[in-house]
Amino acid sequence: MLTVRAPATSANLGSGFDVFGLALSAPADVVRVEKAAETTIEVTGAGSQYIPTDPAKNTAGVVARELDAPARIEIDKGVRPASGLGSSAASAAGAAVALNALYDRGCSDEELVRAAAEGEAVVSGAAHADNVAPSIVGGFTIARADGVTSVDAELPLVVCLPDIVVSTRDAREVVPGTVSMEEMVETVGSAATLTTGMHRNDPELVGRGLQESVVTPARAALVTGYDEAKRAALDAGATGVTISGAGPGVLAVCRRPEDRRRVAAAMLSGFDEADIDARAYQTAVGGGAELFR
Ligand code: HSE
Repeated sequence: MLTVRAPATSANLGSGFDVFGLALSAPADVVRVEKAAETTIEVTGAGSQYIPTDPAKNTAGVVARELDAPARIEIDKGVRPASGLGSSAASAAGAAVALNALYDRGCSDEELVRAAAEGEAVVSGAAHADNVAPSIVGGFTIARADGVTSVDAELPLVVCLPDIVVSTRDAREVVPGTVSMEEMVETVGSAATLTTGMHRNDPELVGRGLQESVVTPARAALVTGYDEAKRAALDAGATGVTISGAGPGVLAVCRRPEDRRRVAAAMLSGFDEADIDARAYQTAVGGGAELFR
């Protein structure tokens, strides 16, 4: 079988709702494929019991349909669904890269991102590409209707995953339908600051660029312990903290790799203050999906 490791991702980064995404060096899904007359899906690993194996309802199954590439697909989940760490996107991205190679389709990254985004639509109701783009391309990505821009970045990160479930659909329902001019000005300033920070590998700029006052505050109400974990991470030296994707995962940007342990411990104790169990991943910006033949 042909094997692909597709990384978990963190979307939005505060100021880039439905646009910005980061590939994480860990965790990751592993997707294995072999040709078959009809697509079948088998899922093991984190949260596999919650993932549909009907190809019409599974992100990887939808990708097989989009690429007209029927296959036996085995998915080993590195991160549970409804985590805010791009779990469904990692499976979609892994399937896209694997099936493209298996059937020698010769699709470009942009075409694979589009196919994988269709897979995402079955989970979230919208074909947004802010998780699948970094999982396929790697680094920091800006996914827009007219294409994907990416830049490699070096940045130490912590993602903390509380033991609560927030569905992407619910998290999208609380997002306000309109923004004020003041909020738009703040968000544009933050997005520009963050993008510059990624180009310069500057954790101070990236941390400041996470700030926005529209989507994150609305969603913070769904993530019990978010305020405590954020305050603890900032006190422990993180340059910025925000909700990862649709949540409940929380992303913290660190100045130095050696700061991650302290920030991770602080975030866990913040969630603990709110009586929420959590686990923390000390990670970094990573590369895109990797193919092993
Ligand atoms: N941009 C998406 C959201 C990512 O925040 O809803 C989650 O799939």
